[in-house]
Amino acid sequence: MKLSTESYKGVRDFYPQDQQFLNYLLATYRDVAKKFGYAEYHASILEPSELYKAKGAENAEMVSEQTYTFLDRGGREVTLRPEMTPTVARMVAAKRREFGFPLRLFSIPNVFRYERPQRGRLREHWQLNVDLFGSESRAADAEIIQVSYELMKAFGANESDFVIKIGSRAYINALITELDLDEDAAQKLVGLLDRKNKIEKAEFEQGLAELGVPSEKLSAAHVPADVQAVLDILSAVGIGNAKFDPSIVRGFAYYTGVVFEVFDTHEDNNRSLFGGGRYDNLTAMFDNESITGVGFGMGDVTMHDFLEVRGLLPAYHAPTHVYLAVASDAEVPHALQLAQELREHGVHVASDFGDKKLADQIKNAAKNGVPYLVVVGQNEITSGTFMVRDLSNGNETPASRAELASFFLER
Ligand code: HAM
Repeated sequence: MKLSTESYKGVRDFYPQDQQFLNYLLATYRDVAKKFGYAEYHASILEPSELYKAKGAENAEMVSEQTYTFLDRGGREVTLRPEMTPTVARMVAAKRREFGFPLRLFSIPNVFRYERPQRGRLREHWQLNVDLFGSESRAADAEIIQVSYELMKAFGANESDFVIKIGSRAYINALITELDLDEDAAQKLVGLLDRKNKIEKAEFEQGLAELGVPSEKLSAAHVPADVQAVLDILSAVGIGNAKFDPSIVRGFAYYTGVVFEVFDTHEDNNRSLFGGGRYDNLTAMFDNESITGVGFGMGDVTMHDFLEVRGLLPAYHAPTHVYLAVASDAEVPHALQLAQELREHGVHVASDFGDKKLADQIKNAAKNGVPYLVVVGQNEITSGTFMVRDLSNGNETPASRAELASFFLER
């Protein structure tokens, strides 16, 4: 039996078109993060499993059902990181004396979650992480949201294409204390809020009633002070599509303050694109000194879907500007020489080896998306004039050897 050519369930192969899109995404991530003064860091995919089980980082569903965990050859339990936040908390805690705060960090790791693959959800994705450590200021919360907003703009989105929904875990936690809810009821409340947009209003109201939570405490009209402060700063910097939404609580247990989620407003992709929030105690699992953090994670899968429904995906460009085809293998040395000449001018050139018919050389270059082709034959070599063929329409333009490089570089 032969092996399947399919990739492992829920992960992707990145063919040149896919990789080019990913590179575009990552370059945009980097540009925007750096514009705000964030420094890039990185870490290994492998983490000791205890990092996701420790008090503060734990997330029951994540640890028991969604991680790729295995024993290494020394019997240690290892996990492929399902997210970056515990890792960056560890790194910051380790070097806290060397860093100045506020500390602004970003990274673009690939992360792994054993999830049921569906639209927007895979088992491996790339995730921009932008985090700010050591400031409790509402302006720090606002800055993180502003970075998210600028990312959306950098991808070509308009304000009406997305909405930034802001909630407050601090407010929900205070409400839980005020109403004296036990742990079970508290979890139910968070779960109910998390599902609010997916269930009927009546079901939501009934859930609140069962928990003894007055619904006006969770109405959009009742904006918590921390959220209002953030909204005021955002409006001062010209952001007009942020609003309070009491149902935004986020899944992870570590969030303690303002939390937010960015939603696509398109009717065909009306879903959360990415999100984050403030977490006060994550570094406390390493020592007794907590460093507060606020940040978000933005995945490549949801962004791809967003850009696709908006018609904002960039077109694919083959890396090769021009393909040199040869009339016979006698011209190969000459073609190689011309290729090298063009490369020295900065042109991206690939040259054929003359072991296929000329017609096939042309067909194959077109198949791979190469825009131009030049046939190197005895006539061209002697006359010094080459015909540049536009492979999208077959049009030919003559160019002297000296003009060739600029022909491609100007396009
Ligand atoms: P998260 O909401 O679990 O948060 O993930 C952040 C984003 O990563 C999601 O909104 C989505 O864009 C993408 N994402 C998550 N899971 C998947 C998946 N299975 N397939 C495709 N994309 C996915 C966190 O991970 C937090 N650690 C973010 C954070 C950073 N909070 C503070 N700093």
